[in-house]
Amino acid sequence: MSAQLIDGKAIAANIDVLAGEAGAVLAKQIGRAPCLAVVLVGDDAASQVYVRNKVKRTEAAGLKSIEVRRPADAPEQEIIDIVRGLNDDDGVDGILVQLPLPDHMDANAVVEAIHPDKDVDGLTETSAGRLVLGKPGLRPCTPAGCVLLAERTLGDLSGKSVVVVGRSILVGKPAALLFLEKNATVTIAHSRTKDLAELVRTADIVVPAVGRPQMVRGDWIKPGACVLDVGINRIDAPERGEGKTRLVGDAAFDEIVGHAGSITPVPGGIGPMTIAMLLRNTVLAAAMRAGLPAPEGL
Ligand code: GUN
Repeated sequence: MSAQLIDGKAIAANIDVLAGEAGAVLAKQIGRAPCLAVVLVGDDAASQVYVRNKVKRTEAAGLKSIEVRRPADAPEQEIIDIVRGLNDDDGVDGILVQLPLPDHMDANAVVEAIHPDKDVDGLTETSAGRLVLGKPGLRPCTPAGCVLLAERTLGDLSGKSVVVVGRSILVGKPAALLFLEKNATVTIAHSRTKDLAELVRTADIVVPAVGRPQMVRGDWIKPGACVLDVGINRIDAPERGEGKTRLVGDAAFDEIVGHAGSITPVPGGIGPMTIAMLLRNTVLAAAMRAGLPAPEGL
């Protein structure tokens, strides 16, 4: 048996279209397109690529995009003031400060300056609190993308056993809470977990999110289980030629593909979902701010 490949790229493209359609309906009601503002500080190469993709996909979906760029040596207070200005701008629905910020800045202070109703990354303390309390709010994009892929692949997640491997603030913890919201039975495993392989073998859904290349092995996976690999690691690939590298996840794809029921590839699995959920959050934020219900189909 070979696992079904979960095509995150295709599903993300579909979410982009749905967000665009919902955004167009909403635009008629509020008199303008939902708008995402992205703040990029410094010239980190990877961040520039991420931001370019975010802007491109926002505009391709027919949403409005604002980009604010500042040099790496900009004072922290200037960035906080920019965020506050965007908070006060009624034409802006979502604010994203690209991370990492330069070392001299307190990233937490900058992120906390974002108004929770515009926090499309779901990173503020208020957004985290809303998630824990089960209150409506904007959910973090990558874990929300995991849940959406799981639902598209398996349908109702109620009663499914989920093992999240990793307890990071950005992925592991919120992913666990989001699966719990779907009535799954969730365990968070981490570096001190005993008999990790045994535990993972009990899961209907495994979410490797530890940042260690190919750590979750093939014989850890229950036959037929769904593996949602959040990891993106660049490793040496001498088999492709001298000095060559390739991207791998936190799961040993080649071992797992033979007996899992479904698995996300790396790249092309969870990765593209992050921006799709960002567009979705931008439209949800616009609706929420206008006092309208969440658009249907999103
Ligand atoms: N840097 C890398 N990924 C992300 C993300 O999802 N959000 C933000 N704000 N910064 C990032």
